[in-house]
Amino acid sequence: MTKDLVEAIEQRRSVREFKPDPVPDATISRIIGCALMAPTAGNVQPWRFWVVRRPEVKAALARAAFGQGFVEEAPVVVVVAAEPKRSAAQYGKRGSELYCIQDTAAAIENMLLAVVAYGLGACWVGAFDEDAARHALGLSEDVRPVAMIPIGYPKRDPAGKRPRPQRPWDEVVTVVE
Ligand SMILES: Cc1cc2nc3c(=O)[nH]c(=O)nc-3n(C[C@H](O)[C@H](O)[C@H](O)COP(=O)(O)O)c2cc1C
Repeated sequence: MTKDLVEAIEQRRSVREFKPDPVPDATISRIIGCALMAPTAGNVQPWRFWVVRRPEVKAALARAAFGQGFVEEAPVVVVVAAEPKRSAAQYGKRGSELYCIQDTAAAIENMLLAVVAYGLGACWVGAFDEDAARHALGLSEDVRPVAMIPIGYPKRDPAGKRPRPQRPWDEVVTVVE
């Protein structure tokens, strides 16, 4: 049954406070392995991952993210980037503007759910200056950073967070029959 997966989806929340405990390399590898299993248009896989543990690079990423300090406080930050030219080679403008972003977003969500499965916490950080993030990692112009994912053991159980408000079902779901 898919119960475990549904539970992970229902339990996932953004975590922005972490214990200093290190996260094993093997666990991060399994989490990125889950990202690599995401669907991707034409199997192009236009994604790249940087696993950042070095404090000064995490600090530079936090600055690029307009001072979101928890990026620096997490023991590990995975930066997920897209390679628009790979998607463009197969799909033109639709590839570079849409598919490469959708593909990396699917990979990111797989990671966030795997994080829950390992008892870890994470947050999708999308508010950052792309050039500053590129500079922090020495990336070329061909690589577009899409998200920073700080990962660590949650300081507090995310189950204790207030339930997040949801838009009404009828406003977002339309049944056509
Ligand atoms: C594209 C995207 C960008 C986001 N950027 C940030 C961010 O820069 N900083 C942050 O703290 N949270 C960020 N979030 C997390 C959202 O704030 C969070 O998912 C939302 O408030 C719902 O809360 P939940 O994740 O706990 O369910 C981002 C989420 C997405 C999908």
